[in-house]
Amino acid sequence: MFHHAPFSTLAFLATVCAYTWPSPQLDELESARFDQKGLHANAFSGFLGSCDSFIFGPNTGRSNAADWIRMARFSETSLRIMTWRHNSKDGTGGLDASIRFAEEQARAENAGNGFANTMIVVGTQVSRYISNADAIALAAVMAIENCGGPEVAFRGGRIDATEPNAPGVPEPEQDLDSHIAAFARQGFTKTEMISLVACGHTFGGVQHDPFPDIVNVLNDTADTEDVAHFDSTFATFDNNVATEYISGTTQNPLVVGFNDTTNSDKRIFGSDGNTTMLSFANSPALFASTCADLFARMIDTVPNGVVLTDVITPLPVKPSDVVLTMNGDVLELSASVRLWNTTDTTSSVTMLWKDHIGGTGNDTLAFWDLSSATGGKYSAAWYRVATVTNAVLTDFVSLDPAAGITSMSFLVDGQLDDQNGLGFAIQDGFMLSKTSCQIEFLSARFDVAVRNGVNATRVYLEQITTDTLQRVVVVEIDIPPPSQPVAINSAYSLWSVNVTNPNVGYAIGAEIDGIKYSTTIAYGVTAFPSCSA
Ligand code: HEM
Ligand SMILES: *[C@@H]1O[C@H](CO)[C@@H](O)[C@H](O)[C@H]1NC(C)=O
Ligand SMILES: *[C@@H]1O[C@H](CO)[C@@H](O)[C@H](O)[C@H]1NC(C)=O
Ligand SMILES: *[C@@H]1O[C@H](CO)[C@@H](O)[C@H](O)[C@H]1NC(C)=O
Ligand SMILES: *[C@@H]1O[C@H](CO)[C@@H](O)[C@H](O)[C@H]1NC(C)=O
Ligand SMILES: *[C@@H]1O[C@H](CO)[C@@H](O)[C@H](O)[C@H]1NC(C)=O
Ligand SMILES: *[C@@H]1O[C@H](CO)[C@@H](O)[C@H](O)[C@H]1NC(C)=O
Ligand SMILES: *[C@@H]1O[C@H](CO)[C@@H](O)[C@H](O)[C@H]1NC(C)=O
Repeated sequence: MFHHAPFSTLAFLATVCAYTWPSPQLDELESARFDQKGLHANAFSGFLGSCDSFIFGPNTGRSNAADWIRMARFSETSLRIMTWRHNSKDGTGGLDASIRFAEEQARAENAGNGFANTMIVVGTQVSRYISNADAIALAAVMAIENCGGPEVAFRGGRIDATEPNAPGVPEPEQDLDSHIAAFARQGFTKTEMISLVACGHTFGGVQHDPFPDIVNVLNDTADTEDVAHFDSTFATFDNNVATEYISGTTQNPLVVGFNDTTNSDKRIFGSDGNTTMLSFANSPALFASTCADLFARMIDTVPNGVVLTDVITPLPVKPSDVVLTMNGDVLELSASVRLWNTTDTTSSVTMLWKDHIGGTGNDTLAFWDLSSATGGKYSAAWYRVATVTNAVLTDFVSLDPAAGITSMSFLVDGQLDDQNGLGFAIQDGFMLSKTSCQIEFLSARFDVAVRNGVNATRVYLEQITTDTLQRVVVVEIDIPPPSQPVAINSAYSLWSVNVTNPNVGYAIGAEIDGIKYSTTIAYGVTAFPSCSA
């Protein structure tokens, strides 16, 4: 392993403008990207222990060596899935998760079980705000970064294909001209092709089962899957793929394979007289920065019409876990805040808020926990609303419903973060009322407190589910407006709906002045008290 060059994409963290909170999609993408381990760890964290302890669901209990291979495969398949089908001329294909369709996985060009396995992992990070394609891109970025690779700029907003794409994955027996043409179709030059193949082939290798004509049975008890590795450090991102190639010691099965027809890396690496590979062998830093740029371009290759977000950078001070609940005459506010790039557990953190009637309030937050990202390169400290009285933890502050809350800001060790004067806006137009209850088993009444005077044209429950194309969809269940206002307190009225068979959670949504808002959490009805209690 090597130290990252100062001119790598690290710089993007400092130079790109952060977004304005709240933005449901960006808030969630940012979390998935930067809350990798520790508190609020993202769904991939279990796969990122370290590159030598990768545990893949159906294959737990394998030897370390096999787990390494799985990690590499997870990374590789995320990588290989990406851009091969993109056609820069007509703008079709690209990273659109079409590989999730069994028809594509069954193609000879996609030999091996890596794709199906990878999609199982990828699925754990998919949500209403994160598509399968975004999750694939994120998986690749995290695998690269957590296995010694450079930081890769990440954008969100990819859209999942609704059908398999045209075939077109490059195969090792194809000739150099076909490969140059395949990369050109995706907008990559010959030099970029050499680079990108080297960047990808620092991980993993070729497995016997899908490629019996390239790799023999190895009879190696430490390599039970018979994977012939591209370089000697196959679970780590480094330039050994280049140094070993240049020094002539490489065991890369696509360079020194026994059948020259399938030695595609040999043809590609040598296609410019070794100039590019020599430069990588001479400079780990150049290799890392080149790969960071090309990986980012690769994951950003999407079909025409897909608009990606800006590069997602961490918010320095990020509210989280903001939940409003109406409890009779009291509006309960729970919240936490993440302070980026610190492990300080003793900061002085005050949450400040403004209300509808010109008032303000504040609460001193308590240290909660730490999180980290990018193989521990970045850390964050979390603080939350939490007071302990007589050994009982209260995780909310009580607000007057009439005053409500309009925005928050944070004072951290004397420094105010209020998003440059904007504040962190809070929507208190609707929220769950604690009068919600279970009517009987698998049937419940949802009571939603709606602020009087707010232009709520619709209030509804949101059921998060998956459609037949494995895309997350939100099903809205309208709550009919009450025929007579049912006051819950001086400022809020109740809208109620009964739901049956509520074996899943529901978020609450409302359309206020024509804009849709959702609660950040879904409520599981089994946690409601009984209506008859
Ligand atoms: C002409 C271009 C390419 C050809 C012909 C090619 C061919 C292959 C083949 C045959 C395998 C073995 C797969 C298996 O055993 O299941 C493989 C593995 C791999 N490829 Fe490529 N590849 C190409 C370009 C790329 C690029 C551009 C990347 C990423 C930037 C990449 C990343 C990987 C990785 C990470 C693996 C390891 C898979 C594992 O260990 O499971 N490849 N490649
Ligand atoms: C692996 O073992 C089998 C059976 O003993 C043998 O036929 C084969 O030649 C061995 N392959 C290698 C690469 O050593
Ligand atoms: C080498 O590989 C090619 C393509 O897979 C195949 O057609 C050819 O028969 C192989 N040659 C030998 C000697 O195995
Ligand atoms: C490129 O490097 C490989 C591996 O060392 C070597 O076999 C080949 O001859 C080199 N090609 C040129 C044009 O120098
Ligand atoms: C993280 O904080 C340290 C000081 O604790 C500072 O030197 C460094 O520049 C910060 N890094 C980033 C990326 O903000
Ligand atoms: C917090 O509120 C108290 C009164 O409730 C006030 O005295 C104090 O100045 C406030 N602190 C800040 C930092 O605004
Ligand atoms: C919900 O169910 C309860 C009990 O069955 C019933 O009394 C109530 O009228 C229902 N409420 C609505 C809004 O349908
Ligand atoms: C409420 O919002 C709807 C949708 O934007 C709009 O058409 C309507 O004029 C608004 N009503 C009031 C009273 O502002």
